[in-house]
Amino acid sequence: MFYSTDEPCPLPHNPLKAIVSPRPIGWISTQDKNGQVNLAPYSFFNAVCSTPSIVMFSSEGLKDSARNALETGEFVVSLATLALKDAMNASSAPVETHVNEYTLAGLEPASCVHVSPPRVAISPASLECKTLPNHPMTDLNGNTLDVHMVLGQVVGVHIHDDYLSDAGLFDTAKAQPLARCGYRDYAAVESVFQLTRPVD
Ligand SMILES: Cc1cc2nc3c(=O)[nH]c(=O)nc-3n(C[C@H](O)[C@H](O)[C@H](O)COP(=O)(O)O)c2cc1C
Repeated sequence: MFYSTDEPCPLPHNPLKAIVSPRPIGWISTQDKNGQVNLAPYSFFNAVCSTPSIVMFSSEGLKDSARNALETGEFVVSLATLALKDAMNASSAPVETHVNEYTLAGLEPASCVHVSPPRVAISPASLECKTLPNHPMTDLNGNTLDVHMVLGQVVGVHIHDDYLSDAGLFDTAKAQPLARCGYRDYAAVESVFQLTRPVD
């Protein structure tokens, strides 16, 4: 089948998120201007480049995480894993701004070094980020979108020693990162394999 996106989608659900799948889940911690802690998962999330290390997440509507990251200039990404799927899901509840999702999800916060928001203590890895200049999103017609892409440069990396091999490699298969697929589907990385590039 084929359809153009300037026509109504002929499928019962937009397949984009099932096609751009699996997507890593950035579990975003922020604080508002008054220090109120916030935690929520974002699957419009990815790494943009490695040196310097830059990550992004995208908020459909200006939600607390994006607002806080843009206002305070700081956010933290914790790795959402298979073992933490229920806590991750609980932290996505649409609650009032004053509700601390760490408490809601039964999670312990841990301090960061360079930024104020806490990280998820039990998560195998967390990235401390400082927010980069914002690029307002427009569509092909130049219409401003209520979509807020937040870019952040990683200024600190936390890794639990249990997930580091003797060679100093992060053990992705042991961490079992959770990924978002389409509809209500999720996936987890439970095994990995190696490929060597043609010119390595
Ligand atoms: C796995 C998962 C991924 C999500 N990804 C996004 C996303 O990429 N963008 C978005 O706007 N909302 C996303 N959401 C919904 C937000 O997590 C939800 O609206 C949350 O309440 C926002 O919290 P906040 O206002 O504290 O930032 C996702 C929810 C789940 C469960």
